[in-house]
Amino acid sequence: MIKRDGKNTSLWQDLEDLEGYHQVPPSDHVDVIIVGAGITGITTALMLQAQGKKCLILEAHTVGFGTTAGTSAHLNTVLDTPYQTIISNFGKLQAILAAEAAQQALEQIAGFIEKFQISCDFSRCDGYMYATQQDEEKELVETLEAINEVGIQAEFVDNIPGPMDFTRAIKFGGQGRFHPLKYLKALYAEFLKLGGHILENTKVVKIIDQEGFQRVETAGDKSYYADHVVYATHTPPGVHLLTFKLAPYRSYVMGIELADNQSYPEDLIYDMQDPFHYFRKADYQDRQLLLVGGQDHKTGQHNNTDFNFTELESFVRNTYKVKEVVYKWSSQYYESTDGLPYIGYFPGKKNKRIFVATGYSGNGMIFGTLSAQIISNLIVHGKSTYEALFSPSRCKPIAGFSNFMTENIDVAKHLITDKLSVSKIHSYSEIAKGEGRIINFENRDIGLFKDDTGQLFAVDPVCKHAGCVVQWNSTERSWDCPCHGARYDPSGNLLTGPSTAGLPVYEIEEDD
Ligand code: FES
Repeated sequence: MIKRDGKNTSLWQDLEDLEGYHQVPPSDHVDVIIVGAGITGITTALMLQAQGKKCLILEAHTVGFGTTAGTSAHLNTVLDTPYQTIISNFGKLQAILAAEAAQQALEQIAGFIEKFQISCDFSRCDGYMYATQQDEEKELVETLEAINEVGIQAEFVDNIPGPMDFTRAIKFGGQGRFHPLKYLKALYAEFLKLGGHILENTKVVKIIDQEGFQRVETAGDKSYYADHVVYATHTPPGVHLLTFKLAPYRSYVMGIELADNQSYPEDLIYDMQDPFHYFRKADYQDRQLLLVGGQDHKTGQHNNTDFNFTELESFVRNTYKVKEVVYKWSSQYYESTDGLPYIGYFPGKKNKRIFVATGYSGNGMIFGTLSAQIISNLIVHGKSTYEALFSPSRCKPIAGFSNFMTENIDVAKHLITDKLSVSKIHSYSEIAKGEGRIINFENRDIGLFKDDTGQLFAVDPVCKHAGCVVQWNSTERSWDCPCHGARYDPSGNLLTGPSTAGLPVYEIEEDD
């Protein structure tokens, strides 16, 4: 089974493990080092390798360990950020360009599937969005107009492919869905066939510009050298401009078998609640499952993450007859301040040899693929049609101002109140099996977790990235940082950046 960055298992992970699939020591110097082996990293590496660039992927864990294994794998050109927002923030012409970019990414995925004959349950389909009340209807009208304005065909419809009650609904064409890890595995195999290198369990901690080339230092004190480096890790390590332009979110997905021969939707369906819910079907062994997602919230800002599944299931049961919940999992994504991802040259670096791709919102499959197109074009040809639109250095102070302030107010709140609140907790003896909590013990804040056998794990709960206090994520059993999304396992090991180090561990003796 493919490993993932949480305790819950996603539907996609049930594949032969890719770990150790092909570990090859690279030569001293490669053309491009790609950090991260999710859809962004693998697609970028394949595109560059195919154009004659010698590539090395450095992955902190294993292939597909991050959000690619936790996505719901919608392939949508109608993006999470509504086109009316993109038009408002960037102008109509740029919004049209964004829609074209998303379309091109979808066609790139379809092209790879055809070229490499990938069996990954790919299907082209329509999308539906429905309103259930007056204010949603108003927004739906604006959404329809904006979708049409950017060149995607959309119309009002009387029926949707599900049993939901609705007052108005729209349909838009040209969407898709697939199995993300079957797809990733195939691209990975193609990359290796072309002579690409990968090192798993190799964590990058620093990149140093050294006389025109990049020295990439890893946690194992070994360095690798390249002309260019691509961060395909959501958020790059360290504190930099992007640290303050990204907000981490958690999203929840359930795989449900329906009762009474109810039909599974061939298309993608979205409601208009805030946060919204999304529906698609997926193949599961020789059956099908309904995938339902939603309940999104900012990372580290929900006291009982398990409860999100209770709410999500109750939402589904109001619409469908449920036979069995077969899968449930959550995953992390990042939002930018102005609604479009940051893809291109790492901001603030003079040498233009380091690249970054992040802030995909819930459109990771599309934007991960688009990032590969943009970055490989920048490296090979020095330009991309989409360079300016998605530039990580862009400044949209008006458009992004309210989001920017909200994200940073939240960060400040966590830096202060979370440290105060721990003083109310006096004894870890109240902790139940499977529970994690921050306690105050002999004037020290300690992140304490008791596993199912009763064994205690204690960590310093101060995030190693920039000093925020981590929060316990009960459903994935991880310590999550509310500020910039770093995540750690119960033993303090780093799951996801931007931190580059784990949490310090306290030893616990039996008498304690
Ligand atoms: Fe930045 Fe934790 S991720 S302080």
